[in-house]
Amino acid sequence: MNNVQPRGQWATRIGFILAAAGSAVGLGNIWKFPYIAGQNGGGAFVLVYLFCIAIVGLPIMISELMIGAHTQKDAVGAFTFLEGKRSPWRLAGWFSVAAAFIILSYYSVVAGWTLEYVWRALQGAFVGQSPEAIEGMFGGLIGDGTRQVICHFAFIALSLGIVIGGVHKGIERWSKILMPILFGLLLLLFINGMLSAGAAESLHFMFYPDFSKLTPVSVLEAMGHSFYTLSLGMAIIVTYGSYLSKGSNIVGASLRVALLDTAIALIAGLAIFSVVFAVGMQPAAGPGLVFKTIPIVFSKIPGGYFLAILFFLLIAFAALTSTISLMEAQVAYLIDERGWNRKAATTTLAILCFIVGIPSALSYNMLGSWTPLGDRAFFDSIDLVASNYMLPISGLLISIYVGWFWKNEQDKKEMLAASPAWVYSLWHFMIRYITPLAVAIVLYAKVKESGL
Ligand code: PHE
Ligand code: NA
Repeated sequence: MNNVQPRGQWATRIGFILAAAGSAVGLGNIWKFPYIAGQNGGGAFVLVYLFCIAIVGLPIMISELMIGAHTQKDAVGAFTFLEGKRSPWRLAGWFSVAAAFIILSYYSVVAGWTLEYVWRALQGAFVGQSPEAIEGMFGGLIGDGTRQVICHFAFIALSLGIVIGGVHKGIERWSKILMPILFGLLLLLFINGMLSAGAAESLHFMFYPDFSKLTPVSVLEAMGHSFYTLSLGMAIIVTYGSYLSKGSNIVGASLRVALLDTAIALIAGLAIFSVVFAVGMQPAAGPGLVFKTIPIVFSKIPGGYFLAILFFLLIAFAALTSTISLMEAQVAYLIDERGWNRKAATTTLAILCFIVGIPSALSYNMLGSWTPLGDRAFFDSIDLVASNYMLPISGLLISIYVGWFWKNEQDKKEMLAASPAWVYSLWHFMIRYITPLAVAIVLYAKVKESGL
């Protein structure tokens, strides 16, 4: 028991914005959004996506920040504070912390791959190699369980090193260092892309509005992504909100974070697809894009040695600011609810997440024949459960709670007092009727799609 340490607080507004944007900006911005935008009608999809951010992403982000800032507690403690010790709503808090735990366990395995690729880029491993050889390198890593466990360990250790420093001296300080570097790296890659031969084609791919490619499925895709991309439903934004003072401008902060997240996804798309098109390759998504296509592209263009280093540093930093937020959401629970000190809480969780992540690192090698859900390997199974089921369920619970069960209208109004009154009315209407309906539809579609 150690309750003598004062609870963490952000020292500056920009520090909080950068930390929350750090959580939001992750692999989703780089390997998912640009591709789905290009495939689903470019500019037409971007418009739909902005609409989904407005009706799903922002209302939930505002709700999570409100819960955190009002209660000044972790995600479980927040519901205890609001509804009492016996309230079933505490399960919603628990559920979101559990989601953070599960996601951290395998997100850091993928993040570990990015470390490996920073290392390979530094060594010039892609220079002068054939496309087949470069694709083989990724296959080699995926087949090498030991190597992946080491990288996974290294990434958890990096996150631990930051989170153990606390809210101000750890997370805020490192967000203020890592995020500007991330912006700088992205800007360099973007300029390089816009000067390359594929610039026009990438602008066309990402922005030319083709409404014929916009289907109901693309709308669902946009809604699901608006949710994942802002790191909602994972106790993160509640926890980060709890380190704000009560009078903060919650709506303003949410808008800034969503804007940064969207801008970075768009710029990353242009930076990546311009060089992909410049060498005549096809756009792609996911690990294939990042670990196969991109290194092949950089093996073919001038300055590729340096560009590869910049690119893999960029995604490693994007992943790191996300893993620290996942870790903090759980650490806050142990500190606030269980009275642990930060050192013990962070170390224990890091070790647990490392151990639970090991089967994910071994999914495509030693455990290759283990398929817990359908024909999916362990890694894909756990990702499916967490991102397709747990996140929408958690988001649905948050919006229903804040819209219908958080009865104290005065408290809610007070949390948005920095904005004009119509903002509150609009937000409240959304979170009651529109947002839960939209998330329920996403959840239904995901369940159907997974075929379970
Ligand atoms: N928001 C991150 C992205 O867009 C993903 C993420 C999910 C980060 C969960 C942290 C926690 O890539
Ligand atoms: Na994101």
